[in-house]
Amino acid sequence: MSNKQQNIAGRTIVVTGASSGIGESAALQLAARGARVCLVARRTEELDRVRNAIRDVGGEAWSYAADLSVDGEVDACAAMILSDHPEVDVLVNNAGRSIRRAVKDSFDRFHDYQRVMQLNYFAAIRLTQKFLPGMLARRRGHIVNVSSLSVQFATPRFAAYVASKSALEGFSRCLAMEMVGKGVAVTVISYPLVKTAMTAPTEIYRYVPQMKVQQAGGWIVQAVEKRSPRIGPAFGDVWGAASMVMPATTTELTGRAFNYIGRRLQARANRESGDKD
Ligand SMILES: NC(=O)c1ccc[n+]([C@@H]2O[C@H](COP(=O)([O-])OP(=O)(O)OC[C@H]3O[C@@H](n4cnc5c(N)ncnc54)[C@H](OP(=O)(O)O)[C@@H]3O)[C@@H](O)[C@H]2O)c1
Repeated sequence: MSNKQQNIAGRTIVVTGASSGIGESAALQLAARGARVCLVARRTEELDRVRNAIRDVGGEAWSYAADLSVDGEVDACAAMILSDHPEVDVLVNNAGRSIRRAVKDSFDRFHDYQRVMQLNYFAAIRLTQKFLPGMLARRRGHIVNVSSLSVQFATPRFAAYVASKSALEGFSRCLAMEMVGKGVAVTVISYPLVKTAMTAPTEIYRYVPQMKVQQAGGWIVQAVEKRSPRIGPAFGDVWGAASMVMPATTTELTGRAFNYIGRRLQARANRESGDKD
């Protein structure tokens, strides 16, 4: 193991959004490697289900129910975790919500933008403010921020969501620089589509390849082990660079391609749901 790598066993890791999807899978995999996992989300029963699954096989986990879109609940949750576990080694900011709606259909929905920012960006910052001081004092720690490939490969209808994840990535890049030489690592994970409750309501995703949730959870394990600045598909880096160098071409290409493919897939979904009636 290199100096930069971290042994997972015995580390105390806070995973937000651990009641389902990527967060649940990450929590199970981290606990299986000996981490002590603090599970955060709103649904107590789901959190307890994950906690019990970990404990049933001899792992260590604790549930902390909180609505992270409410500042007071973030503070109370962080205080409770720190009172039970004064030394948090890793914070995984994974809880998130997505909104798929065109800007032109959102003129009376300013709250769409506020809601995604509140959870995807402000909650992550607020939790970082709670756990980072201890990490800095111990000169050891790690903040893992879950983002999306859509920041590099921006797609129509996700303006609110992509803006919130872009804010999180911007914050992460600056924080990473400030943490140089201080023993604290910062990782951004750029997920492509992952088959979870988040993507389930969008009919057309049935026809699009989606990453398996176990693999996605494995990326968080890899992040904690390797402490690398970014994990994501190489395609995102290439497209992100291309859209900086050739913004007009990439915007035109993506806009047209998504409108065309989106229409085709929606027509297919409509046909198939019509066939079932
Ligand atoms: N699935 C994808 O295609 C994809 C792609 C790129 C990035 N991501 C990112 O991956 C992360 C995990 O998403 P997922 O796909 O695993 O979706 P998911 O299964 O819907 O999980 C979302 C998690 O966030 C929690 N959560 C939602 N609102 C919350 C709130 N107000 N307070 C506390 N917890 C809250 C949910 O738990 P409760 O409902 O119990 O609160 C749940 O545990 C998100 O940040 C998402 O943006 C997903």
